[in-house]
Amino acid sequence: MALDEVVADTRAGRSQVLVLRGEAGVGKSALLEYLAENAAGCRVLRAVGVESEMELPFAGLHQLCAPLLGQLDRLPDPQHEALSVAFGLRAGGAPDRFLVGLAVLSLLAEVAEERPLVCVVDDAQWLDRVSAQTLAFAARRLLAERVALVCAVRTSEPAAGGDPWRGLREITVQGLRDDDAGALLDSLVPGRLDARVRDPIVAETHGNPLALLELTRGLNSGGAGRRVRSAGRAAAGEPDRAELPAADRGAPGRGAAAAPGGGRRAGG
Ligand SMILES: Nc1ncnc2c1ncn2[C@@H]1O[C@H](COP(=O)(O)OP(=O)(O)OP(=O)(O)O)[C@@H](O)[C@H]1O
Ligand SMILES: [Mg+2]
Repeated sequence: MALDEVVADTRAGRSQVLVLRGEAGVGKSALLEYLAENAAGCRVLRAVGVESEMELPFAGLHQLCAPLLGQLDRLPDPQHEALSVAFGLRAGGAPDRFLVGLAVLSLLAEVAEERPLVCVVDDAQWLDRVSAQTLAFAARRLLAERVALVCAVRTSEPAAGGDPWRGLREITVQGLRDDDAGALLDSLVPGRLDARVRDPIVAETHGNPLALLELTRGLNSGGAGRRVRSAGRAAAGEPDRAELPAADRGAPGRGAAAAPGGGRRAGG
């Protein structure tokens, strides 16, 4: 899988940049979790775009770099000063964005000298604009620094004023393949669904795991999940059981979730 290669290549001294794009609920965050969990031996830095912080310049970058603030003095003076001003550690007017970009690049490269570095940015569509631009600037200049930058961007949220991530290597995250979506659905409802019920649901949701989870969520409260199951029984000519114990249900994501991305539809 591309994500496994990202870590392997980073460890081998080939910097990697990957933008995961996909609709809400398709599994981008789950893939980032998988990446972070499988980055043994690497230092992992994280940031998550927050809608309410979109107007705060450098907020996202500050999140990502917070654990590295003690190392700013490893930077050349002009970069040190620019990043210190950006992060409010030093007084000054609006910092030179080019210098801030260089500072971030230098900082990541410096830190990666000790251990390969994996930067994971979720909900990047909600990063403040200058943080996204700065990270993309650094990403375009990564070469042999043992640094990976992997971002998740929700496709349904078009970036105002142009897409800062354009031009970087990207993958479109698609829904689960039909058999994996079916297995997930089966793990969410008691017993086994009739194919005449399961298949249209899989087709309708395009294997979007969140859609599958939400469809079955009302199982115990008599919502959609119960309807799914009831419809399954009806289609199979079986009597409907009013209440089914929660303990019968598989844990969400068992099977298909064991290897996120492993069972996905072909990505672009
Ligand atoms: N391969 C999988 N198998 C089972 N469940 C999964 C899988 N991938 C994701 N999920 C589950 O589907 C739900 C949505 O996944 P996730 O949060 O990763 O989506 P997302 O693409 O990050 O969505 P958003 O754009 O809203 O952030 C979560 O509950 C997650 O645990
Ligand atoms: Mg997410």
